[in-house]
Amino acid sequence: MTSPAILIRGGTVVNTDREFKADVLCVDGQVAAIGAAAVTQAPAGTQTIDASGQYVLPGGIDPHTHMQLPFMGTVAADDFFSGTAAGLAGGTTSIIDFVIPDPQQPLMDAFRMWRGWAEKSAADYGFHVAVTWWSEGVHADMGRLVQQEGVNSFKHFMAYKNAIMCDDETLVNSFKRALELGAMPTVHAENGELVYLLQQEVLKMGITGPEGHPLSRPPMVEGEAANRAIAIADVLGVPIYIVHVSCIEAAEAIARARARGQRVYGEVLAGHLVIDDSVYRHPDFATAAAYVMSPPFRPKGHQEMLWRGLQSGQLHTTATDHCVFCAPQKAAGKDSFTQIPNGCGGVEERMSVIWDAGVGTGRLTPSEFVAITSGNCARIFNLAGRKGVIAEGADADIVLWDPAATKTLSVKTQRSKVDFNIFEGRQVKGLATHTLSRGTLVYANGDLRATPGHGQYVKRPAFGPQFEAAALRTAAHAPTAVAR
Ligand code: URP
Ligand code: ZN
Ligand code: ZN
Repeated sequence: MTSPAILIRGGTVVNTDREFKADVLCVDGQVAAIGAAAVTQAPAGTQTIDASGQYVLPGGIDPHTHMQLPFMGTVAADDFFSGTAAGLAGGTTSIIDFVIPDPQQPLMDAFRMWRGWAEKSAADYGFHVAVTWWSEGVHADMGRLVQQEGVNSFKHFMAYKNAIMCDDETLVNSFKRALELGAMPTVHAENGELVYLLQQEVLKMGITGPEGHPLSRPPMVEGEAANRAIAIADVLGVPIYIVHVSCIEAAEAIARARARGQRVYGEVLAGHLVIDDSVYRHPDFATAAAYVMSPPFRPKGHQEMLWRGLQSGQLHTTATDHCVFCAPQKAAGKDSFTQIPNGCGGVEERMSVIWDAGVGTGRLTPSEFVAITSGNCARIFNLAGRKGVIAEGADADIVLWDPAATKTLSVKTQRSKVDFNIFEGRQVKGLATHTLSRGTLVYANGDLRATPGHGQYVKRPAFGPQFEAAALRTAAHAPTAVAR
């Protein structure tokens, strides 16, 4: 069923480069006209939405979610419908989730499985595919995924030993293959060997509760892995994207590499920007366990560095790592923090939390907010022109944003199926009032009209010849690099 054309009147359009007052016409899922032409071209039957006093933003893109992920002996509680519906209520119109094959599982088999699960998505989605092992088959499947299936990014877990961790041999092979294919390697940067060792030592000290989680994953463990992944990418001449940068050590590694001219991108989670590690010392197991995710929440001082990275453009995207487990699932780690399923939520709250703590405090301009919630992600993962911008011909993924509206975030009002909200009690100013997904009004003033299957799989083309050029430059400079 096609939706009626929608005319958004009287709002202030915000793109990554500027904001301007303009009407916006959406027809057949796309932005058809902006400005005076939006009114003159509106077909008969067009529905008008009054956006006066509101910003008109590109729909948020969350580049890091795990809906219904099978992980640590259980399955994440939000499926592709409930998770994406929650996102729509908060102004996020696209997600990039992760296909995570078991070691020895062919990538294409896992990809098909995840595609099936995601058919009920209410919002558009794409997939990064994790490389958890290496073989000729993995090499070939990476080619198929890029050339036939619209995957242009591969994920590498440097942590989770004895599960999905990939060693340096796999990292090197996969990064090299990604370069050949014009795909972006991404990493979860934590040294899995160190985490494993520290977990045993913390347990031996008699610390079995959630307070042991951050002790086993200190910032240097993340910094080491970030530096290593960046160095491998530099030697091979491939760009690299580091997911959920949580600490000064990793942010500095990225800044240093960028200062040397390396293409390194960093993602920050909404949670890491505002929640600190005191949550792990909560006396109630269920509450502390609800915050167990990796990398863990950090001492408050790290947050400033993350904000500065986003402000200065050294860090680029914001995400949630939405991967939720209910209290009975978290209880698997009652006797050992190492068994608590890792993951937290936020797909509904990300935009408001970052607007409130970012734009509301003067750290970010509205255009910078758009850059870090959609525009940069679209550019880095090759969706630009279609997502992350309000422009003629782009998908009509649009959020009407009321900068004066307030809300207290709570598990009682959230759409996610999880039984906890990591932002519980937080008052935010700045909320989505209306969300359009490819021109369909899916959320209006608290009324969520998400439909299973409305979301479409979004193919992301491979990157162009600049990848190869980067490799050639690296090869040409190799003697200089050795001399240095
Ligand atoms: O704790 C987390 N982040 N769980 C999801 C898997 C991952 O590491 O991204
Ligand atoms: Zn991760
Ligand atoms: Zn993740």
